[in-house]
Amino acid sequence: MQNTIEFKQSILVTIKQRKSIRTYQPIPISSDKRKTLQQAIGIPGNNLFRFAWFEQKSRNGLAERIGTYGVIKGAQTFVVGVLRKDAEGGKDAAIQFGYEFEQIILKATELGLGTCWLGGIFNAATFAKGIDLQQNEKIVMLSPVGIPSEKKHLISKLTSRAANSNTRKPWQKLFYESEIGFPLSKEAAGKFAPALEMVRLAPSAVNSQPWRVIRSENGFHFYAAATNYFALGKERFLRYNDMGIAMAHFELACKDLGLAGEWIFEKQLDDGDEPNLEYIRSWKTGD
Ligand SMILES: Cc1cc2nc3c(=O)[nH]c(=O)nc-3n(C[C@H](O)[C@H](O)[C@H](O)COP(=O)(O)O)c2cc1C
Repeated sequence: MQNTIEFKQSILVTIKQRKSIRTYQPIPISSDKRKTLQQAIGIPGNNLFRFAWFEQKSRNGLAERIGTYGVIKGAQTFVVGVLRKDAEGGKDAAIQFGYEFEQIILKATELGLGTCWLGGIFNAATFAKGIDLQQNEKIVMLSPVGIPSEKKHLISKLTSRAANSNTRKPWQKLFYESEIGFPLSKEAAGKFAPALEMVRLAPSAVNSQPWRVIRSENGFHFYAAATNYFALGKERFLRYNDMGIAMAHFELACKDLGLAGEWIFEKQLDDGDEPNLEYIRSWKTGD
């Protein structure tokens, strides 16, 4: 996995700025910003999925018809995540999807635009025509990109409250030293503490925060904790998206902090050691 989008602002600042925006001003974004984002979505990381640009032609209607659980108001422009049907159910594709889609979200945030991952229920047909959806493709994710409205819509307020958007688990529930049950403190994490904090601030489906990280001598091992929210069979996909997001945050933060490393697959715990944790990837720290 490799980061493909270039960021101008410190990623630590951008990650802290990002939050889900569900109410937008019904005005188009500037052509400069549109161009930058269109370029970012056009860099394909692989051929299992693609990102498309969707723009509402008429001024009315779309917001009501997308029908997602967190009602989105006023948005005119969307980034649409399209997965090849034969990649559905694939773990690596889902992780990589999260990793790449989040970088688009962060690029939009850097440009001062609002975003919101939407992987729940939405009316895919509204978007299918506008993005030339092929028979072997499926729309799996959306994010509006637009100018946040000062006024928060009531339903949007309720949605972010229901999703506990502003809260995150404390460090001791997420990060461990050598094994689960032995929390890794910020002090002990040392120069890696800001990168782990960026994992903690990551968005996740219904704010479930499934990321667990165990530090060992040679690096940081990322696991997904079992989640049990109801997501119409998409739960596995969304959880792996969440893991890809956390990996993007960690990697980009390390890069910003001047800490070398790379992702490797090197299972640490034995099967059955922690039945509620699934191994994802390890960040092998450089010298
Ligand atoms: C994979 C994924 C899927 C999501 N799906 C939805 C969705 O369908 N509707 C929605 O309103 N928010 C959705 N969210 C947004 C989360 O609820 C939100 O990120 C979380 O509550 C944390 O809040 P924050 O983004 O403001 O930090 C999703 C987030 C992720 C990462």
